[in-house]
Amino acid sequence: MSEKIDPALPKVELHLHFEGAAPPAFIRGLAKEKNLDISKIFTEDGGYAYRDFWHFLEVYEAATSTLQTPEDFHRLCLAVLEDRARDGVVYAETFLSPDFCGGGDVSAWREYLHAIEEAAAIGQRDFGITLKGIVTAIRHFGPEKSRPAAICAVETKGDFLTGFGIAGDEKMHHPKDFTWAFDCAREAGLRLTAHAGEWGGAKSVRDALDYLKPERIGHGVQAIDDLALVDRLAEDRVVLEVCPGSNVFLGVYPSFPAHPVDKLREREVIVTLSTDDPPFFRTTLVQEYEALAKAFSWTEADFRAINADAARAAFCDAATKDRILQIIEGRA
Ligand code: HPA
Ligand code: ZN
Repeated sequence: MSEKIDPALPKVELHLHFEGAAPPAFIRGLAKEKNLDISKIFTEDGGYAYRDFWHFLEVYEAATSTLQTPEDFHRLCLAVLEDRARDGVVYAETFLSPDFCGGGDVSAWREYLHAIEEAAAIGQRDFGITLKGIVTAIRHFGPEKSRPAAICAVETKGDFLTGFGIAGDEKMHHPKDFTWAFDCAREAGLRLTAHAGEWGGAKSVRDALDYLKPERIGHGVQAIDDLALVDRLAEDRVVLEVCPGSNVFLGVYPSFPAHPVDKLREREVIVTLSTDDPPFFRTTLVQEYEALAKAFSWTEADFRAINADAARAAFCDAATKDRILQIIEGRA
């Protein structure tokens, strides 16, 4: 019997796509308000409908087409934080794309970001959740679009916007095509993360590390196929943002027990736990913890240790980190 994990256990979630966290009912509501017909992206039971990862990216973009104004993103932020509160999340970081918020234009992006930050302040007050933003370039939109995305990030870096990264179709382009954007963000003092090793294999993780030099990797789980790389991750203290339910739902691994997260931990890689795009993968962070406890006999102490690692790896100031660590370690 696995230990029952208290759903209220305080959690840190570092890998969450903002639009990907949109409840389907929220997106359906926006579509109705704007007279947009996106009915084909929903199943009969009201969830998101897609066949595989690549179709998921298309459906994601169709859902995102309903988000058209800063006010829409403000409302989305409140909905996303309400869901995080239900999961016991006390600190979250979310991926934001200037491509979806003003098309890479800095002044338009500022307005979207301002609306999101205002909602984040409400979330802090009402739910006690601290939210930070990470600008992400979208790999399949191409290297050219990554440059204005990086410039948007650099121009708005601050207390809320603290990181830069890349998501999207890992099989498109090469990390070296995005060095300009990553160098630009790094020089401005932004913290860096890159999606790799979800679909592109261990080599994709190596290339991301070599060319983009991020301190965290989104997913990174396919590194398990190259044990020298696993050792490098452990020695260099590169943090993995692992989203097991996402990987299982999309078929990267057939089940939770077959997922490499436990082996990676055993080999002393720093792993953190997140949901990625929870309504798309029909998961919550509470469900992830339950499935992991069952698959690997992880206890509440394991989850507390993982959350403390996540707090230490957070892209935030030292005072925030200390405050979150105190909550996780039961000292606050
Ligand atoms: N993987 C890669 N790119 C993404 C994802 C994901 O799960 N969600 C949104 N963009
Ligand atoms: Zn992701």
